[in-house]
Amino acid sequence: MDFNIKSGSPEKQRTACVIVGIFSSRRLSHPAKAIDKASKQYISTLIRRGDMDGDRGQHLLLHNVPGVMADRVLLIGCGKEREINDGAYRQIIRNSITILNKTGALEGINYLSELNIKNRDYSWKIKQAVEIAEHTLYQFNELKSKNKKTRRPLRKITYTVPTRRELSKCEMSIKQACAIANGVKLARDLGNYPSNICTPTYLAKQATKLAKNNNSLSVNVLEESDMEKLGMGSLLSVSQGSTEPAKLIILEYKTSKKTQKPIVLVGKGVTFDTGGISIKPSQAMDEMKYDMCGAASVLGTLSAVAELGLPINVVGIVPATENMPSGDATNPGDIFTSMSGQTVEVLNTDAEGRLILCDAITYSKKYNPDVVIDIATLTGACVIALGKHATGLLSNHNPLAREIINAGEDAGDRAWQLPLWDEYQQQLNSPFADIANIGGRDAGTITAACFLSRFAEKLQWAHLDIAGTAWLSGSKKGATGRPVSLLMQYILNKIK
Ligand code: BES
Ligand code: MN
Ligand code: ZN
Repeated sequence: MDFNIKSGSPEKQRTACVIVGIFSSRRLSHPAKAIDKASKQYISTLIRRGDMDGDRGQHLLLHNVPGVMADRVLLIGCGKEREINDGAYRQIIRNSITILNKTGALEGINYLSELNIKNRDYSWKIKQAVEIAEHTLYQFNELKSKNKKTRRPLRKITYTVPTRRELSKCEMSIKQACAIANGVKLARDLGNYPSNICTPTYLAKQATKLAKNNNSLSVNVLEESDMEKLGMGSLLSVSQGSTEPAKLIILEYKTSKKTQKPIVLVGKGVTFDTGGISIKPSQAMDEMKYDMCGAASVLGTLSAVAELGLPINVVGIVPATENMPSGDATNPGDIFTSMSGQTVEVLNTDAEGRLILCDAITYSKKYNPDVVIDIATLTGACVIALGKHATGLLSNHNPLAREIINAGEDAGDRAWQLPLWDEYQQQLNSPFADIANIGGRDAGTITAACFLSRFAEKLQWAHLDIAGTAWLSGSKKGATGRPVSLLMQYILNKIK
C-alpha cells in the first residue's frame, strides 16, 4: 500500500473518496463542515433527516455530492468528540478502512487523522493510522487455489494534517509504521502457515532470507549436533521425539557502534505442539501451529529494525523445534542437564516451551546483553488470566517492565505485569533434580516465568507470555502479529 500525507480543503480533493467524521448527536467535524458548506448544506440536511447520528460504528457513503470534487464522500461515526481516546481512535480508523475497502474506490483521502485525542500528537496519530490500515487489510490467501484476489483492492491511502508544519515529522511516522507493518505481516504469515510448511527448517530459511536481503543482518543456524556440543540437553529433550531436526537460529543486527551492548530477543519457535507424551486433547489442536509466534515476532521485529536502519544493536535467538510423541520422545519423569548445568525433571512434556527457552536464554549470555526479552506462547493459564487483550509480562527488573508497559500503551499492543515473587519459586521443587518443569495448577503463568528466571539469573530480563494475544480464534481466526508493534516501540523509545 502506498501511504501519503497532505493538508488541504476536503471539498477540493480530486480523489475517489474523502473520509470525514461525524460526532454523536449529529455534530459535524471541521472537515465535514467544510464539505457541508461547499455542498450548500447537503450533509447537514441528510443528517437532520436522520440518516446518521454520528455514533461510533455508523457510516454513510455518498456519491456525487454537489460542490465537492471527490467521487465519493464517506461519513464515519466517531461517537462523542470528548470521549475519543486511543482505543476509540483506533476503532474509528479501522472502521473507515474496512468500509473504504468495500466501496470500490482505489484510493482515498482520510481526514480522521485530524481527530483530537488527549495527549497524542500528529506523528502518533499518523503512525497508528498507517499500522491499522495495513493490519485491517491483511489477508492470508497464500494456500487457497481460488478466489485469492480482492475485487478492486485499495492502492493508496492519504491521511491529512491541518497544517504543512506537521508534514516532515509525519513522513517519518509513515516510514516507521510501514516498516513495523511489514514486520507484523511477516509474523502473521509465519503464524498462519501450517506446521507441514512452517517447520524449524523453514523458520531458519526465512531468517536466512532476511539476512540475504539486508547487509546489516547476519544469520547463524546451529544444528542439533552443535547444540549437543553446547550441552543444550533441555532443548534437545523436546526435539528428540520429532523427525524434524531442531534449529537454533541466531539473527544479528549490527550498527557501526560495535561495542554497544545489544538488546537480545528470544522467541519460542515450537512449530507444532502436540504436548508430546503428555499429549493434548484433540479439541482445537490445529491451533498449536501458532506455538512459534514468539519466534515469528522476533523475525518480524528484526526485519523492521533492519528496514529502518536503526542505530542500535539487536540479536534475535530462536530455538525452533516440534513437540511430538514417539518412541524416541521424552517420558514424564525423565531428567536432563541444561546448558547452564542445572538439571531439570520433566514432569509434563507439554511444558516444553520453557525447556527450549532456558537453553536459549543461557546461550544469550555470550552477547553480554543490555537486556534480554523472551517472547513465548507459553501458558494456557495466561489466556485465562488476561484473555486476548493483554500480553503477560514478568520481569526481574522493574524499570525494564515499566518501559515495556509504556511502549505497549503507545503502540496499542498492551502488556500487563504479573508478580515474580520468590514465594512462587518453591512450586518448582523436585525431589530428584535441581528443578521441575511444572509448578502445579496455581499461578501457571507465574511459575513458568519462575522457571525461566532460574536461567536468566543476573540478566536484566523480561518475559512476554503471548499465548492469548498472538492468535485469535472464531471468525477472525489467525495470527495477530503481536507483539511486534510493542517491541518496535520499545526499541524506538530507547533510541530517542
Ligand atoms: N503452547 C502451550 C501453551 C498454550 C496454550 C499456548 C494454549 C496457546 C494456547 C504450552 O506449551 C503448554 O502446553 N503449556 C501448558 C503448561 C502446563 C503443562 C504446565 C499449559 O498451559 O497447559
Ligand atoms: Mn505445550
Ligand atoms: Zn507450547
